[in-house]
Amino acid sequence: MAKIKISYQCQACGYSSPKWLGRCPDCEAWNSFAEEKLKPKNLRSQSASEPVMLDSVEIKDGFRYGTGIDEFDRVLGGGVVPGSVILVGGDPGIGKSTLLLQSMNGIVNKLGSTVLYVSAEESLPQIKIRAGRLGIGCDRIALLFETSLENIFMTVEKMKPAAIVVDSIQTVFTDTLPSASGSVGQIRECSSKLMVYAKKTGIPVFIIGHVTKEGALAGPRLLEHIVDTVLYFEGDRGHSYRILRSVKNRFGSTNEIGVFEMGEHGLIEVINPSALFLSERHGNNGGSAVTSSVEGTRPLLVEVQSLVSPTSFGMPRRTAIGIDLNRVNLLIAVCEKIGGIPLGTMDIFVNVVGGLRIVEPAADLCVLMTIISSLRERSIKEDTIIFGEVGLTGEVRSVANAEIRVKEARKIGFKRVILPQGNRENDFNMSDISITGVRDIHEAIEAVFDHFK
Ligand code: TYD
Ligand code: MG
Repeated sequence: MAKIKISYQCQACGYSSPKWLGRCPDCEAWNSFAEEKLKPKNLRSQSASEPVMLDSVEIKDGFRYGTGIDEFDRVLGGGVVPGSVILVGGDPGIGKSTLLLQSMNGIVNKLGSTVLYVSAEESLPQIKIRAGRLGIGCDRIALLFETSLENIFMTVEKMKPAAIVVDSIQTVFTDTLPSASGSVGQIRECSSKLMVYAKKTGIPVFIIGHVTKEGALAGPRLLEHIVDTVLYFEGDRGHSYRILRSVKNRFGSTNEIGVFEMGEHGLIEVINPSALFLSERHGNNGGSAVTSSVEGTRPLLVEVQSLVSPTSFGMPRRTAIGIDLNRVNLLIAVCEKIGGIPLGTMDIFVNVVGGLRIVEPAADLCVLMTIISSLRERSIKEDTIIFGEVGLTGEVRSVANAEIRVKEARKIGFKRVILPQGNRENDFNMSDISITGVRDIHEAIEAVFDHFK
């Protein structure tokens, strides 16, 4: 009998070594190696597939199908592609199982065929209770409590469902590896098997994955390379908003987001998120302004708040929530050096309202203006939106999608836009909204605060 080989694998990144190591040379994680037994590869050749000419590849009608949840479909790039593998990652309790149960219900209602929901985590009565809460009483959602991938495949072979959900990838295991479920080897092997199966049969597979404390998908990043689409379901526990963000999509744009609200009876799509995020604005407060952030193809108006107060300790505190702290520090430096506004003895807190996270630099100018607004206790007019990237020499650089941002602002009822001069050059053709282009932060201060000294 062939000897079983032992190798040690980093549980964070999947690096493998013949010996145990204290620190992973690849991802530099400490104490992350665990033993994985490798079965010798079976060298029997598989039946080879034949090459096909590109123009004779057939695309079936109705290439994508909807899940009945428009926000979800948009994030997927217009619906589910048959044979695709979609990974939905997120913190425990954020609503992954809820989202997938609701979308399975949508698929069933649309297609009229049966889907399979495999739970390796929750018992069937638990799922039934959730379905009851969601008002789903469908007889075409088959539930299966199973942790062995081989048994799952056997069931799938028998019932040929229209889609499969695996909840979660960390709790299923394949017999071909002796290691425990949840280990790097198991996660990788199970997801590649699901991938091969999906491609072979054309059945879309939704995989639920847990997220580690650091926010990455538990198990190796490799998982992200294997699947077609990676979606993160995120949100603040204290808020009811949930954001579904696409970070990888072989069939659509990334950075697309879908906004949901978690209610008594499950997730509700938020059709007009800008209005939602601005709904609790407290008029005319110093230190608050609205910016426009474009996520994928969709503009989102969000409120940015800053609080600047004298520090009571030697070291001023800088805190940023919902935006990169390094970016905020950079803006503070520009403000001090170029704007000539001393902030060295001030604590500065910046917050993006509603538990949102802004990643694009277009919010720079707005953050800078709210800091100045709070420092000088001068409020920014409520009907103003501000966006633009700020460079290190204090210049305001143009950003992409300016027109979409302005249109969204007009739709919500804003009257004034402060944007980079570079973007002002286009003709917006809008008479009911005043648009001011600024070249640098001095001009921006002038425009925002109307002759501010
Ligand atoms: P769940 O889908 O089980 O999360 P995950 O699979 O990501 O771990 O969602 C659990 C949370 O959602 C739980 O805290 C309760 C809440 N919830 C509601 O507020 N309303 C609902 O209708 C449902 C089904 C859940
Ligand atoms: Mg769950």
